[in-house]
Amino acid sequence: MAKPILVANWKNHPSSQDEVHALLKDLIRKKLLYKRLSVFIAPPLAYLESVADRAGKFAQLAAQDITELPKGTYTGVVTNDILKSFGVKLAIVGHSERRALGESSLVVSEKVKAALKSGIAPLVCVGEKTRDTDGEHFEFLRMQIKESLAGLSKQSVTSVLIAYEPSWAIGKSAKDAMPAGELAQSVIFIKKVLTDLYGRKVAESIPILYGGSVDPSNAGEIMREGGVKGLLVGRASLKAKSFEEIALSLLQK
Ligand code: 13P
Repeated sequence: MAKPILVANWKNHPSSQDEVHALLKDLIRKKLLYKRLSVFIAPPLAYLESVADRAGKFAQLAAQDITELPKGTYTGVVTNDILKSFGVKLAIVGHSERRALGESSLVVSEKVKAALKSGIAPLVCVGEKTRDTDGEHFEFLRMQIKESLAGLSKQSVTSVLIAYEPSWAIGKSAKDAMPAGELAQSVIFIKKVLTDLYGRKVAESIPILYGGSVDPSNAGEIMREGGVKGLLVGRASLKAKSFEEIALSLLQK
């Protein structure tokens, strides 16, 4: 069976190279634990080399974003060939914090294709901004998935991963995070949308992760009851102890 997936999204942290080195030094102590999972670290680009050098024994490199631009000359852009040259294997695409800056699902779909073309697996973030009692957020989710994966063949979509990360559930305390029962419903819905688009067999091969205020206190329940194959973790990935406890929860599923 495939290993559970644990993705650390460091966002724009830590704020110095020294802190990165200290965090990696702490993380590496538990390398045997992390090797039992598929662990990815998505650091700020400026730290790619540090992470590539120090975390290679227990984690793979991920990018927090990827460009949809074709080969060319672009001041200020880190192109996908550069990401590849560092060993980046996975790219978060369409994170809600990027969508909030104006990234449309159309651009997300272009980025997904660019990632696949570069041999980088896209981790496509989807999720509603708010929930309502009439379930209209499900329609929002359906459209977002459809548009973000637009133009992908059945074959290419098997290299995609989905992160269900509703923006209302990000950056909260664990008690305000999404209850595992509600998560399970959303995961079933996402699988149904994927089945309608690509058929059951392909849909079942696409791993669905959850992200949004995951910490050691809720990771176990999310993994046991949420129906997901892994977690996308923000703040709790910046402390070696909480990341380790989350990793343990993934193994105890
Ligand atoms: P938090 O875990 O800090 O809520 O962040 C979630 C997230 O955005 C991961 O991509």
